[in-house]
Amino acid sequence: MKALILAGGEGTRLRPITHTSAKQLVPVANKPVLYYCLHSIAEAGIKEVIIIVGDTQDEIKEAIGNGEQFGVSVSYVYQERPLGLAHAVKIAQKELGNEEFVMFLGDNLIKDGIKTLVDEFKSNKPNAQILLAEVEDPKRFGVAELNGDNTVKKLVEKPKTPVSNLALVGVYMFDKNIFEAVNAIKPSWRDELEITDAIQYMIDKGLTVEPHIIQGWWKDTGKLEDMLEANRMILEDLKEGCLGQVDNKSKIVGKVFIDEGARVINSTIRGPAVIGKNTVIEHSYIGPFTSIYYDCQVIDSEIEHSIVLEGSAVKSINRLSDSLIGKNVEVVKSNKKPKAYRLMVGDNSKVGI
Ligand code: TTP
Repeated sequence: MKALILAGGEGTRLRPITHTSAKQLVPVANKPVLYYCLHSIAEAGIKEVIIIVGDTQDEIKEAIGNGEQFGVSVSYVYQERPLGLAHAVKIAQKELGNEEFVMFLGDNLIKDGIKTLVDEFKSNKPNAQILLAEVEDPKRFGVAELNGDNTVKKLVEKPKTPVSNLALVGVYMFDKNIFEAVNAIKPSWRDELEITDAIQYMIDKGLTVEPHIIQGWWKDTGKLEDMLEANRMILEDLKEGCLGQVDNKSKIVGKVFIDEGARVINSTIRGPAVIGKNTVIEHSYIGPFTSIYYDCQVIDSEIEHSIVLEGSAVKSINRLSDSLIGKNVEVVKSNKKPKAYRLMVGDNSKVGI
């Protein structure tokens, strides 16, 4: 069995971060989302991985390389434009061959991994298996209607009147019949080849599509709020430790991980929180559910429930909360007159003052 990871796309919902970076590489608890995906594929015993990449291909290739660090072998397929999840399957047909494969959306996090799903697919041998989760707002998702015999009857994309509360989660398993489907369907109103249409095509042909309803936690990290929630969930299971330095004026409370070369000076860190390599926290308070990445500086400031990416500095800021700070960003309070907010904020940013 092979794996197909989708790491192209536009990431419009996470702009401006995605103007310059791949959303699949935004770290959650200081580990890029895509790494979780590769780890769970490796854990399921899959060795061959094909990654669909788009405009951010250089960054993704640099982070993942040939996959050796994850114990898998990775090759890449370039998708010129994000023409849909089924389009991604279509362009990877040659690399996938006739083997069964798991398709994993590279911005999705499945806390318990995918080993049980893969094992279930291998033993039941349906033509496709989809992962479903009960959600409160099915109108936002692709929704499945089931038959009484544990097969899927119908899939509807973002239904106005949902037939169930079972939403599609970003992991799918297919045998070679998916290729006939992705080659037969036509683009939808949003001009994408929809995976829901391809699966519906399989159902209409009389092929077996089985559901697997997940009980554990999962998240599509495509939006800021979801990214912060994912960060919260992963940090809850954090293994505490200290590879850096904490001076005797500092207080560390709860589960906190301090990485190599990081320095905590005259500060309080209340976990769960993670402080990245070579980051300096000085005269500051870091509150629960905060991930500060590599080479950052937090001086005379308070931060909680936030993610800060590498190389950023937060100085003299009273309290920063529910925020995602990009790479090499400076958030600084200055005493210059006139007293005013001075901003250089990228397109599609959000600033709450
Ligand atoms: P989406 O989140 O559905 O799409 P997107 O990345 O374009 O984001 P947004 O809606 O914010 O504009 O994509 C899910 C995953 O699949 C994500 O990792 C990107 C990837 N993808 C592709 O690789 N190719 C595609 O054609 C599409 C639509 C998505």
